[in-house]
Amino acid sequence: MALRKRIRPPKQPRPIRRLPQALIIGVRKCGTRALLEMLYLHPMVQKASGEVHFFDRDENYGLGLEWYRSKMPLSFKGQITIEKSPSYFVTPEVPERVRAMNSSVRLLLIVREPVTRAISDYTQLRSRATPSAPAHPLLPGHPAPDATKPFEHLAISPDGSINVAYRPIAISLYHAYLHRWLEVFPREQILVVNGDLLIEDPVPQLRRIEKFLGLEHKIGRKNFYFNETKGFYCLRNDTTDKCLRETKGRKHPRVDPAVVTKLRKFFIQHNQRFYDLVGEDLGWPE
Ligand code: A3P
Repeated sequence: MALRKRIRPPKQPRPIRRLPQALIIGVRKCGTRALLEMLYLHPMVQKASGEVHFFDRDENYGLGLEWYRSKMPLSFKGQITIEKSPSYFVTPEVPERVRAMNSSVRLLLIVREPVTRAISDYTQLRSRATPSAPAHPLLPGHPAPDATKPFEHLAISPDGSINVAYRPIAISLYHAYLHRWLEVFPREQILVVNGDLLIEDPVPQLRRIEKFLGLEHKIGRKNFYFNETKGFYCLRNDTTDKCLRETKGRKHPRVDPAVVTKLRKFFIQHNQRFYDLVGEDLGWPE
């Protein structure tokens, strides 16, 4: 009797956890969360839910790539997995470690006008500062500078010079960190996203990013509505309708305009160095 060939049903593609093909590397307070959530509106994007801090924390990095993979979401073939940890941008070891994982990974760097970013950073540190929690969140083991002091006193030293040792100022010196990445990755592998434009009108920025990630254009006006109370765009698609949490889009304290002017002047030459590195003038006020 001839054996009848068994016809197998076509294999169902099963989702698996994959290492990220794209990373949002920073900069903190420039809209990293907004960018990740907006990209997640795309059907071909999966995101790691929290900040994994794999490349910047030795205790995580030491656990190896399989540990990192276990922190990733399930994805179908063809989908892009994205992770964001803003401290990647400023941590010296990270570019080389990222390259060791995947030398063709796509990198997204979102920036904002540096003085606004510094004030946003101050606003966040101040909101977290309580007398019982003195540890500096960016420099473990170091006492936090008194974040309840006015921004003006922290950003400007008593002799009137700019306090570049103050982390919210230091992190806004973007060129000081970007050059390390450019020693490891070709310029074309890093997309610089203008976070101020993403706040104003997300769709054109997302269009650029979709192209950079090799994704079909899917995120459009239908995915956003402006929330007057929050003062920011909120997001929606077939499964989501949400605004970012109240820690995103905080009201900033009033800063003495003379200090803002002084800081903007200070940043002119640093911004120019950043523009030279990225090959684009972001038009920040002088
Ligand atoms: P502020 O809270 O100072 O306004 P990060 O996620 O990197 O910490 O960035 C936080 C910043 O994201 C916020 O800073 C806010 O300006 C910005 N942002 C961009 N788009 C936003 C949106 N749609 N909703 C809320 N915040 C948004």
